[in-house]
Amino acid sequence: MSNALRKKIASKEAVIGVIGLGYIGLSLLDVFGKAGFSLVGYDKSKEKVQMLKKKDSYINYLSLDFLFNLLSKKKFTPSADSDILKKADVLVISVPTSLDKHHVPELSNLRAAFQTVISYLKKDQLVVVQSSTYPGTTEDELLPLLKKSQLKVGKDFYLAHVPEIADIGNPSYNFIDVPRMVSGITPTCLKMAELLYESIGATVVPCSCPKVAESAKLLQNTYRLVNISLINEMKIMLDRMGIDIWEVVEAASSKPFGFTPFYPGPGIGGDCIPIDPFYLVWRAKASGGPTTLIEQSGNIDDGMAIYVVNKVIQGLNTREKSIRGAKTLVLGVGYKKDVNDIRQSPGLRVLSILKSMLADVHYHDPFVPEIASLPEFPELHLKSIHFKYDQLPQYDAVIIVTDHSFYDWDRIVDSSQLIIDTRNVTAKIPGAKGKVVKA
Ligand SMILES: NC(=O)c1ccc[n+]([C@@H]2O[C@H](COP(=O)([O-])OP(=O)(O)OC[C@H]3O[C@@H](n4cnc5c(N)ncnc54)[C@H](O)[C@@H]3O)[C@@H](O)[C@H]2O)c1
Repeated sequence: MSNALRKKIASKEAVIGVIGLGYIGLSLLDVFGKAGFSLVGYDKSKEKVQMLKKKDSYINYLSLDFLFNLLSKKKFTPSADSDILKKADVLVISVPTSLDKHHVPELSNLRAAFQTVISYLKKDQLVVVQSSTYPGTTEDELLPLLKKSQLKVGKDFYLAHVPEIADIGNPSYNFIDVPRMVSGITPTCLKMAELLYESIGATVVPCSCPKVAESAKLLQNTYRLVNISLINEMKIMLDRMGIDIWEVVEAASSKPFGFTPFYPGPGIGGDCIPIDPFYLVWRAKASGGPTTLIEQSGNIDDGMAIYVVNKVIQGLNTREKSIRGAKTLVLGVGYKKDVNDIRQSPGLRVLSILKSMLADVHYHDPFVPEIASLPEFPELHLKSIHFKYDQLPQYDAVIIVTDHSFYDWDRIVDSSQLIIDTRNVTAKIPGAKGKVVKA
């Protein structure tokens, strides 16, 4: 194992280079910066790099103050020119990975990042794949590319997979609070990656190979998809029996063992839980499956937005109104409380279905001023309304999709004609009964 790189990591003299300066890339840089490392970051988006250079952030739920301080001290250099990576002793890949519309992994960003790594691979360097992907990507896709160099893995350079695990917007789980599943192509690769993550104070969970770490990450997200879908399906069946799922989950949670509560909602958003399980499905199909439970869970999730819109239709019906032409207001299109991330957001799906039913569609989100040019929703061109409680009576239906802290639920109940509540935020508000339809 390279003593040179080991010493550089131990003394924090190693330069950390991150490819992809999104939420994860910037979070990583922040943590490595706080540990004392010098940082370089490459992002293909010139706009994002320009914003960073001007100390302007594009992510509302991540403080960049520390990184901006390092920027002033020239200990952090973001660039849209990949040559900045020449300085890096460690290269971490944190580019987005998604699915195409046939649920096939869309790995063009990751493969482009692999090509970038090839260009800057050098002796005594550690390469870490942190993006989420299907089991086998590091070993079967990146390793063969890197092997074409004259350098030998585990001796001249080190290749690791350390899946990213993040709970956006949850201050209880900062990067350093979450154990890191670390894996390497060879024992020396694993050792080098362990040294790196231990050097920033992370708890390291060694895995025998990248396929185990890649699969473990997918298991974590699949577990959530399946359980949330179970609760959402249970919500629908109990609703038909006149039973409230929220009360049922609360009562069931009294069991001190063998039960973890999951909560219903309008559908799953973000770039992990709706996506990652289908990397597993895609890869498993090539080995003969089985994939039934995961696919069924995805189908349940796909149906949640239409369930919510059906509740809007029912609510309007009781007021002798039709969905066609009804003035509707969706509250919250960020996929999660207090974040501006709209990837796979149920709010977008609800808006799209309402629009297809010729409703008069409006939305408000304190963190998302505009919805435009989304490839999955080309029909949505909307600006967030200027939110005022005294304007709520003009809407035939107000649909609570995301429970941002911005909203005063009492005032919303007080001012609205009809509320469709997917988050149970109105449950304890006097006067909600008769106005609120749970969805
Ligand atoms: N966001 C999360 O909470 C979370 C949690 C766990 C895992 N992950 C995984 O981490 C990875 C990164 O996610 P993210 O949320 O930071 O994504 P993101 O979309 O916020 O940011 C990725 C950045 O990479 C840049 N980029 C894309 N291709 C590039 C390339 N070839 N070269 C250089 N830059 C490139 C984009 O311009 C973008 O700024 C994904 O695989 C995701 O699944 C994310």
